Amino acid sequence: MQDLTKLIGQLPIGVWVASVPSGTAVFTNPAFEAILGVGAEASSQIEDAPRTYGIFDRSGNPYPVESLPFSRVVATGEAAVVDDLVIHRPDGSRVNVRAFAHPLRSETGELSHVSVVFIDITREVQAELDRDQAAERFSFAVEHAPIVIWSTDATGIITLSQGAGLGSLGVKSGELLGTNVFDLYRGHPTINDFIRRGLAGESLQYIVEVGAAAFDTWLAPLRDAGGRVVGVIGLSHDIRELRRLQAVSAQTDRTAALGTLAASVAHEINNPLTYILSYANQIELAFEQLDELCTTPSAANLARMRALLAHLRDDFQTLRHGAERIATITRELGTFNHPNDNAIGPVDARAAVRSVLQLVGKELEARAQLRLDLRETAPIAGHPSRLVQVVLNLVMNAMQSLPFGTASDQVIDIHTCTQGDRVVIEVSDSGPGVPAADRQRIFEPFTTTKAIGEGTGLGLFVCRNIVRSYAGEISVRDRPGGGALFRVTLPVAPASTAASSGPIRALPRADAAAHVLIIDDDSHIARAFSGQLEHYGYRASACSSGTAGLRRVLEGEDIDLVFCDLMMKGLTGMDLHARLLEQAPSLLHKIVFMTGGACSPGARQFVLDHPEAVVEKPFDLLAETRSRLSRGRPVGTASANE
Ligand SMILES: Nc1ncnc2c1ncn2[C@@H]1O[C@H](COP(=O)(O)OP(=O)(O)OP(=O)(O)O)[C@@H](O)[C@H]1O
Ligand SMILES: [Mg+2]
Repeated sequence: MQDLTKLIGQLPIGVWVASVPSGTAVFTNPAFEAILGVGAEASSQIEDAPRTYGIFDRSGNPYPVESLPFSRVVATGEAAVVDDLVIHRPDGSRVNVRAFAHPLRSETGELSHVSVVFIDITREVQAELDRDQAAERFSFAVEHAPIVIWSTDATGIITLSQGAGLGSLGVKSGELLGTNVFDLYRGHPTINDFIRRGLAGESLQYIVEVGAAAFDTWLAPLRDAGGRVVGVIGLSHDIRELRRLQAVSAQTDRTAALGTLAASVAHEINNPLTYILSYANQIELAFEQLDELCTTPSAANLARMRALLAHLRDDFQTLRHGAERIATITRELGTFNHPNDNAIGPVDARAAVRSVLQLVGKELEARAQLRLDLRETAPIAGHPSRLVQVVLNLVMNAMQSLPFGTASDQVIDIHTCTQGDRVVIEVSDSGPGVPAADRQRIFEPFTTTKAIGEGTGLGLFVCRNIVRSYAGEISVRDRPGGGALFRVTLPVAPASTAASSGPIRALPRADAAAHVLIIDDDSHIARAFSGQLEHYGYRASACSSGTAGLRRVLEGEDIDLVFCDLMMKGLTGMDLHARLLEQAPSLLHKIVFMTGGACSPGARQFVLDHPEAVVEKPFDLLAETRSRLSRGRPVGTASANE
C-alpha cells in the first residue's frame, strides 16, 4: 500500500480524494499542487472548491459546483469525466484540465469517498483550438474564393462539393453531394474523360468551360491505405475574372503603347511641321511681293523678281526636306516591327550637323551666337535621318533653354571630332544647365520641365533610343563656364559598311503620253498626282471613288496604268481587286495599289499576299510610274509612252 502511495506521488497525474458529502480532501498527491498551483486546503468544502482552487469553465465563468466531477459522482453514484475545466492559477497562468471521478464505497457498499484523477490537457486544447481555427479559415476561404473543392467515389458519386466557385454553376456548397458526376456532366464529355483518367490513377490539370465559367482544374486519384483508387479529388478555380483582368491589362498596355507611340510621332512630326509652316508663310509673302512687282514692269523690278524667285527656290528645298522627314518618320513607323537593317550606311556627323543648321539655323541665330568646331569625323554606321533627328533634338533643347532677347549674351557650341574608334558630337549652351539630380531622369519618356502643351518630354528619350540602337552613348554634364553639355559618342562604322544611296536623279520627261488613272477618295492626292503626271507629259485622269474607277477600267478605256488607293470609303482597293479578278483578270497587272498604312487585318493580309502590286505612300510617283510602265505589257494593250 505504501508502494502504491509512493507511485501515485510520482505520477504526473493529479489525485484528490475527498469524503462524501462534504468534499473535504482526505488525500492529494504532489502533482495536484503542481497542476493547480495551490496545495489542498484541508478545511475546504465542495461549495468552496471553485474559489479555493480557481476552477472555471472555458467561457471564463466560475465552474458550477453541481457540475464538478465530485458533485456528479455524488448525484449519480457513477463515474464521471469532465474535460472543460480551466484552472486559473494564483500566478495568472491558465491550465486546461480533464478530470476522471470515481465513486469509492465502504464495505457495506455505501458511497464514502470520491477520487478525482486529473491531467493537464492545455496543449491538447490549444492544438484543438488551432485546428478549429485553421478549419474555420480554410472553410472561409473556400466559401469566398472562386474555387470548388470536390471529390467523388470510385463510381463517380460526389462525396465533397464545396466553394464559392459553385455559384457560377448555380449551386451551393454541399448541394451536389450524392449526385453522380458522370450524369451531371453528360453534356461535357471532356470533363467526364478527365475524371475517368483520374479514376484510372492519373493526376492531371486542365481548363474547361462550363456555362459562363472557365474552370482551371487540378485533379488527382484518392487512394485507400492499400493504394487502391477509391475516387478522385479536384480543386477547380473559376478563372473568368482572371481572364477579364488579363484582357483589361492587355488592353491598357496596348493603349499606353499607342499613347506613347502617338505622342512620339506627334513630337517628331511637329518639328518639321514647324519649319514647313514657317517657310510656307515666307513663301506666301514672296508671292505677294511678286504680284506687286508684276504690276509695274521695270528692269529694277525684274531683277528683284529674279532674286525673289531664287529665294523661293531655296525655301521650297526646305519645304521638301521637311516633307521628306515626315515621310521617313511614317515609313519607319510602318516598319516598326521589321527594322530595316539595310538602311544602315556610313553617315557623316558633320553633314548631320549642317542639315540641322539648315533647318533651324535662322531660329538659332535669334537665340544665341553659334560657335562651330566641326573637326573631321570618321563615318558612323547608322541612318542619316536618324542622326539628324538626334542632333536636331539636342539643338532644339539648347535653343529652348535660353531666354528670349538675350542672343548676344548666349552661346550654343557644336563640336564634332573622332576619338579613337568613336565619333563624338557635343551640343552645349550657356543656359541654366541640368541639375546633377536630374541627369538620368531627363532621358526617361515624358520628363519635361516645359509648360503643359509645350514639350512632350520625348526628345531626349528618342535621342537615347536612336543612339543606343547604334551601340552609342548619350550623356549630359556641366558646360565649363555654365550651361549644359550634351555629348553623343558613336562607334566608327566598320570599313565594310555599304555606301548610302546617292541623291535622287531627276527623271526625264515622258516622250509620248501614256494614260495613267488615279483612283483615290482623297481629292487632294488625286489632283496632286494627276497634276504632277501631266506636268511630266503623261495623260492623267482622276477618280474619287472605287466604283467610278472600276467602271472606267472595265469599260475598256485606253488606260495604261492605274494607281488605286487601298483603303477607300465604299468600294475599297481590295474590293476592286476582287471584282477584277472575277470579271477581267487580264487587267489586274495594270493596277498598283497605294497604301498609307494598312490598318485593317484584311488590308494587312492583302499587302502580304500581293507585295508586287502594292506601294506605300508616300512614294516617288514619277519613278514608280516609269518603272511600272517599262515592265512588260500584255499583247494588245496600247502603249503611248514607249
Ligand atoms: N540644353 C538643356 N538645358 C537645360 N535643360 C535641358 C536641356 N535639354 C533638356 N533639358 C531638360 O530635359 C527635359 C527633357 O528634354 P526632352 O527633349 O526630352 O523633352 P522636352 O524638351 O521637355 O520636350 P520636347 O522635346 O517634346 O519639346 C527638358 O524639359 C529640360 O528640363
Ligand atoms: Mg526637347
